[in-house]
Amino acid sequence: MRKKVKNNVSWIGYIDWELQEFHGADYSVFNGSSQNAYLIEEEKTVLMDTIWKPHGEFFLNNLKQEIDLNDIDYIVIQHGEVDHSGALPLLMQEIPDTPIYCTENAVKSLKGQYHEDWNFNVVKTGDTLDVGNGKSLVFVEMRMLHWPDSMATYLTGDNILFSNDAFGQHFAVEELFNDLADPCLLEKEAMKYYANILNPFSALVSRKLNEIAALNLDIDIIAPSHGVIWRDNPVQIIEKYAAWADAYQEDQITIVYETMWEGTGTLANAIAGQINDLSPETRVKVFNIAKYDKNEIMTEVFKSKAIAVGSPTVLNDVMSSVSGWMTFLKSLKFKNKKAAAFGCYGWSGESVKILQEDLAKAGFDVVDASLRVNWNPTRDDLVQAREVAEALLA
Ligand code: FEO
Repeated sequence: MRKKVKNNVSWIGYIDWELQEFHGADYSVFNGSSQNAYLIEEEKTVLMDTIWKPHGEFFLNNLKQEIDLNDIDYIVIQHGEVDHSGALPLLMQEIPDTPIYCTENAVKSLKGQYHEDWNFNVVKTGDTLDVGNGKSLVFVEMRMLHWPDSMATYLTGDNILFSNDAFGQHFAVEELFNDLADPCLLEKEAMKYYANILNPFSALVSRKLNEIAALNLDIDIIAPSHGVIWRDNPVQIIEKYAAWADAYQEDQITIVYETMWEGTGTLANAIAGQINDLSPETRVKVFNIAKYDKNEIMTEVFKSKAIAVGSPTVLNDVMSSVSGWMTFLKSLKFKNKKAAAFGCYGWSGESVKILQEDLAKAGFDVVDASLRVNWNPTRDDLVQAREVAEALLA
């Protein structure tokens, strides 16, 4: 089964309603996902990407029902990650000599993963491939967005930008197009994808968006490799990426903590209450890291102008759930956000200092105010939470 995208371009991917996690367990999936591959059937037949290995047989059988595999003139692999190249070995068993167009780095990643020396044809930004009927593919390298091998491909004539991971979402949409998807979920999933996967590369995103703008391409459709195809005002997602890549923040403060015996949890809620008292229009959210999804919290951090992170002191350190989350936080390279630390302790009391140092290493502007409380908080300690709130709001 295929779905028509435009003229002789069809979607031939896999909508995965059951997917619950991605990148191992490093990315939670709550609204399904898809791996989008595309067929271009002009005078030349082109397969744009494949899908993930677990669905490889489904993909191959589906493809065989739609076309004779020997009719495929070119395969374009825009990115070697296994969710897009996983079905390639099965396909290449059937059509082993078919040319594969990809970046130099993709040759490395494909050879490294599959140990095959297929008929690779290396392309660079600006290279073109004639597909007949007056149309051609124009390749645009997207190095480190988000792998060294990533690229996008523009189909002239139909004005379709196949963007691979960029502009995608882990979001199952049977109707395929953005104008038919649930708009709230679409925005949420697109932002979650950006915050958790692309945010570390924001400087490159800005530069690449400028480079694409300078090409003056008419873009009628953006066809990513996950989630919806943007056909209704596709520029909207480019504009969102431009904003998200520019040290994005909303009037929101997010408080993240773990607690052993409720003391640090009490501090978290006290800080939240003081922020709300001082600035009622500021959105405040509070998450226990041990009880809430880490990727959803990161999306809230992405939206925030400031965060507060709390942990009690345990064995001269922070709780393991907090240290694991802090490692993830560091890797995402957030910018232009304030941070404060808080926590209760019984005797040694190192957690606040450790958190302050780790938040600074993660790129946050750590405020001087903190809340370090011996045993359970008193009323005075809760009043001190106001100083933390004031510093985060300043
Ligand atoms: Fe969707 Fe980077 O793979």
